[in-house]
Amino acid sequence: MLTPEHWLALGRHAGRLEQVSLPELLAREPARADAFALRVGPIYASFARQRIDAEAWDELLAAANEAGLGQALHALFDGALVNRTEGRPALHSALRGDVGQGDVARAAAREARAARDRMDALHAALADGPVTDIVSVGIGGSDLGPRLAVDALRDFHDGRFRVHFLTNMDGSAAQHLLQRLDPARTAGILVSKSFGTQETLLNGGILRDWLGGCDRLFAVSANTGRAEAFGIAPARVLPMWDWVGGRYSLWSAVGFALQLAIGREAFARLLEGAALMDRHVREASVAHNLAAWHGLFAVWNRNALGAATQAVLPYDERLALLPSYLQQLVMESLGKSVRADGSPVPVSTVPVLWGGAGTNVQHSFFQALHQGTDPVPADFIGVIRPAHGHEQNHRALMANLLAQAEALANGAGHDDPHRHHAGGRPSTLMLLDELTPASLGALLAMYEHSVYVQAVLWGINAFDQWGVELGKKIAGELLPAISGQSQPSDPVTRALVAEIRARR
Ligand code: F6P
Repeated sequence: MLTPEHWLALGRHAGRLEQVSLPELLAREPARADAFALRVGPIYASFARQRIDAEAWDELLAAANEAGLGQALHALFDGALVNRTEGRPALHSALRGDVGQGDVARAAAREARAARDRMDALHAALADGPVTDIVSVGIGGSDLGPRLAVDALRDFHDGRFRVHFLTNMDGSAAQHLLQRLDPARTAGILVSKSFGTQETLLNGGILRDWLGGCDRLFAVSANTGRAEAFGIAPARVLPMWDWVGGRYSLWSAVGFALQLAIGREAFARLLEGAALMDRHVREASVAHNLAAWHGLFAVWNRNALGAATQAVLPYDERLALLPSYLQQLVMESLGKSVRADGSPVPVSTVPVLWGGAGTNVQHSFFQALHQGTDPVPADFIGVIRPAHGHEQNHRALMANLLAQAEALANGAGHDDPHRHHAGGRPSTLMLLDELTPASLGALLAMYEHSVYVQAVLWGINAFDQWGVELGKKIAGELLPAISGQSQPSDPVTRALVAEIRARR
């Protein structure tokens, strides 16, 4: 992790750069557009509009190296116990390739391959039957990845199955979905690492009743015993493992619904794209490593520049769910205040991540990005070759993407303060050659590794989520109160429960 001396040095650089505009930085460093850009496979990333100069960047790279970032990345891939509070490795990279060295990583990759073979066999058997619709039941990491990828890869759907997602415990979600489907032609997948998540068990129960039993239900879980106790035959239970965090699990059988939507070949391409990024991140030095750069700039923006939020702005309709997916990946991973040894982190950690698809969001919150009091660092994402023939639209989309990043950075002076654009708002711009399973895999793997980089620099654990437990526990305690069988001890909750009961 970075030391107090590192934080002080970075703060000094930020102070030095405070009065320097982004256009001035570009003028002073004419090679900047190329020097602050990297290509990895299908992704070109430009960091030239981050508010940093070569001197501060060198300091940041040196600090990362002194903090042992390179070794920490190897430890991740090789299966070290990087999830220290739970004593586990985090081997999501083993789900998509064999970049990890050592017995633990190799054994994980073998298990993942065996699970994929079983998933392929279940896929083939389902494809031979009458089922046309799949309902994937899950929440958080058991929902957001497959949901994003099914939506993003809509051009790759092979048409054999329609895939639906059932997530919220609000019964209207189940009601509205199931009324559109035919139980005789529907199969369900209950995705839950723990198989103890309230939403998934409630919705799974509704689905089981609606289907008239468990004959067309599948499960994906690390707790196979619970899945079987629910009534799902062992042959239809696909594994998860302790060494994969829910929000890092798209690449496992958690992605079964995605595979059913896009087919086995396309699912394999997704894994290959992610594996390409894994190899790059493991092998490239910090100075040439895309995930390291992305994570370093996130820390620079959060701590040296004090940005409390981070926007994600995909200029592609198909990536509209990316901000929701990244909210869990980033905020559940990095929403921590103590380091691995329990001591407080001396600096701010996770920013609030938010965003939406361009150009829609230009007409909602971009005003605040351009003229709000707090600069918001942004990740712009564009796709160079579209999958449609509406060339005019695509050219306009690209022009808007480039224009917004430029306007935020350079601003434009005006005598009228209301029309003045201060500029200086940092952004990264990533271009995918095309949106394919492989490029999506590479992009998501890059974000996963960027999150880990940030965690290493802050000294926190990116792979636990104790913060979500307390609310779940209290909800369990309050359940009897909702039906009048107990009195909440908290006076405010007591008054609220009384109001709910009086109005039902
Ligand atoms: O409540 C948060 C969480 O534990 C996430 O980390 C996880 O992805 C989600 O719930 C679902 O958990 P499970 O896969 O065990 O149902």
